[in-house]
Amino acid sequence: MDFLSKKAQIGTIKTDALILAVYEGSTLGSAAQAVDAASGGQIAAILKHGDITGKPGETLLLPAVQGVHAKRILLAGFGKQGETSDSQFRKSISAALNAVKGTVAKDAALDLVELTVKNRDSAWIARQIVELGEASTYTFDQYKSKDNQKKVHLKKLTLLNADSAADKALSVGQAIAGGMSYTKDLGNLPPNVCTPTYLADEAKKLAKSVEKMTLKVIDEKEMKELGMGALLSVSAGSVQPAKLIIMDYRGGKKNEKPHIIVGKGITFDTGGISLKPGPDMDQMKYDMCGAASVLGTMKAITDMKLPLNVIGVITSAENMPGGKASRPGDIVTTMSGQTVEILNTDAEGRLVLCDALTYIERYEPASVVDIATLTGAIIVSLGVHATGMFSNNDGVVDQLKQAGDYTQDRVWHMPLWEDYQSQLDSPFADMANIGGPKAGSITAACFLSRYTKKYPWAHLDIAGTSFLGQPKGATGRPVPLLSEYLISQIRKK
Ligand code: BES
Ligand code: MN
Ligand code: ZN
Repeated sequence: MDFLSKKAQIGTIKTDALILAVYEGSTLGSAAQAVDAASGGQIAAILKHGDITGKPGETLLLPAVQGVHAKRILLAGFGKQGETSDSQFRKSISAALNAVKGTVAKDAALDLVELTVKNRDSAWIARQIVELGEASTYTFDQYKSKDNQKKVHLKKLTLLNADSAADKALSVGQAIAGGMSYTKDLGNLPPNVCTPTYLADEAKKLAKSVEKMTLKVIDEKEMKELGMGALLSVSAGSVQPAKLIIMDYRGGKKNEKPHIIVGKGITFDTGGISLKPGPDMDQMKYDMCGAASVLGTMKAITDMKLPLNVIGVITSAENMPGGKASRPGDIVTTMSGQTVEILNTDAEGRLVLCDALTYIERYEPASVVDIATLTGAIIVSLGVHATGMFSNNDGVVDQLKQAGDYTQDRVWHMPLWEDYQSQLDSPFADMANIGGPKAGSITAACFLSRYTKKYPWAHLDIAGTSFLGQPKGATGRPVPLLSEYLISQIRKK
């Protein structure tokens, strides 16, 4: 979708759909009042019928209002005036845009002057509108034949009377929204198309289009030379070769240490020899959503030309059973020299991550954030709303919390106490790759913590937040969180 900013008198605006705010108690917002006056009080008269009271999520379409240039008006509830919360605002905007999408309107407009959110400024509002606007028109039907594709008419959204802060935020919002859509596309792709090699090719395309980005793709031969026994043990059962993809973006000063984001890119997770049950196994195509969020974030921050050094890393393999696949009981040596007894081949995410996390030590990172659909247990703990966050550094924790709160792409800080570490004890190797049935997300993070001692690090478990089962689809998270986290590193400089 295209987003535009325009200064205009609300009463004279020409658009297919003008979105106007109604606050609880059937009160019109300021722009709505101006339009009502232009229409000779028609809108106020309709409100009296009681079809819309102003609750978030309510909408009412007015097909033709005389005296107004807009082809249709969409009234949308925004809650109690002056009290609208973050989540109420998001609900209201999504409902309004969905209602517009249900019409043949090609463009829509709304006036920022009448929209307020408690404790938020106009820049926040503009970014949210852009992000939700892009999401509302997102479709993934490239694998449906033309006749079966849904037609979305809505192509343009105009934000009226934005101040300069909101204007600036608009372009940041567009970059992040674009990154999210890209991340969704990659996640939604079928696993016979989106392989580790496909992800490497996508990284190649991105690196080619960004002047300050260089790309390195490590293949299995080089992985062997580097001693990446854990990563290689995961791809062993697959005909698809593993890839370790490094996108090195140097937007900052030469001597500044880079921030690194590392994504789990299991392009399909069957569980391997510890085979997963059949139902819903198709969802394991989403096991590369961490990798997809790295590509999406790299796209967003390079679109913004962020003056920061950022390295995006994708550690990618396909987890398949087969004659060459790893077995429960196998012991592998990681690049760090630590040995791992693989007790469950379905705990493969930590195996592909640990070697990548060791490899990046050479960049002397300012911070490292890994992003992984790592455990089903995090969905039990936090559901689909919060990403689980684990860290060895209080500063990174605070920054991620703030970025999550600002973007509403939120995280919840989970414990990484020493006490949990012994669950990984193995009688035969330095550690096992699973920690038993208790606290599965924490012991997975404990495993990673053994490979991240040399830098400030956080692990984000996005198994619950990066895709949804009903309706099926990738969410584009945590691209807003990661982008904002990186933006905040510039403010810190
Ligand atoms: N990719 C899965 C985790 C997952 C589950 C992501 C559901 C999204 C939705 C991961 O590789 C996995 O299989 N984890 C196991 C770990 C267990 C064997 C210790 C799990 O969560 O069951
Ligand atoms: Mn698995
Ligand atoms: Zn997995």
